[in-house]
This record gives sequence, C-alpha cells and structure tokens, in this order.
Amino acid sequence: MANYELLARQLEALLDTRDWLTNAAQTCAFIMQEVPQLNWVGFYLQRAPELLSLGPFQGKPACNPIPFDKGVCGAAARSHETQRVEDVHAVADHIACDADSRAELVVPLIVGDRLWGVLDLDSPFPARFSKEDQSGIERLARVFIDASDLDRT
Ligand code: SME
Repeated sequence: MANYELLARQLEALLDTRDWLTNAAQTCAFIMQEVPQLNWVGFYLQRAPELLSLGPFQGKPACNPIPFDKGVCGAAARSHETQRVEDVHAVADHIACDADSRAELVVPLIVGDRLWGVLDLDSPFPARFSKEDQSGIERLARVFIDASDLDRT
C-alpha cells in the first residue's frame, strides 16, 4: 500500500506556489506517479452552478462537463462526501469515460461551505481502493486545498 504519510509530506514540499492551476496539475501528476494501479487521476471544477468542468488530469481524454445529477462525480458533488466504488459496472448512472475503469474514488473539495470541485481517481482493478486509500487520498486533497488560493477557478 502507498505510504500516505510520506506522500503527504512530499506533496506539501512539491506545492511551492499558491497558484491552484499549477498545484492541481502537480497534484494529479504526483498521485499518478506514486499511487500504484491507477489509469486516471484528475480534477473537475465547479465553475458554473451544479456543473463540473474538466480540469487538470492524467490519463485518457475524459467526459466533460458532468452535471451534479450524473455519475459518481456528481454524487460526490451533491453529497459533499467521498464516493468509494468497488466496481463501477454495478453503478447504474456511472459515466463510462474509459471502459477499462473498474474502481473509482471521488473526493469532494470543499472550501468554506462551497464545493470547489472534486478529485477523481480511477483504477482498472475492481475494489482497488480500501478505506486506508480513501483517508490517504482525502489527506492529499487537503494538502492541495491548504496549499492553494481557491477563491476563484
Ligand atoms: N466515471 C466518472 C466520470 C469521470 S471519469 O471517470 C474521468 C463518473 O461516473 O462520475
């Protein structure tokens, strides 16, 4: 399993600007390099009400935009709660961007009480994400939030 304690410290050191765009690009590249068995990592941003727009990512070109009432990303955006899905094929309204994706982890990024966006991880391996992965990735998302000026997208 990834050593999230160490990864959090490394990511803090990597994010040496307050620019959210630079930090978002670095964060998804870092996670893609350091966390095994992923095929997609990226950000969706809320730049219009109830709509997620594709932001910096690593992996194949992805679906855009995603309304709040669709898919696993939409569920995270609506509920403000992390969505950890063992097999996306079992989720009726999952949005299939890449047929290879099987497990998904979507962490909402909350600034104040507003949903700024979500951080989405996909894996081709069913049940790839454990509860420990969830808390580890939530921690990395917090490092990104704390390092960045997020008052606008
Ligand atoms: N599968 C996601 C869509 C985004 S992609 O995985 C990059 C969903 O159902 O929200």
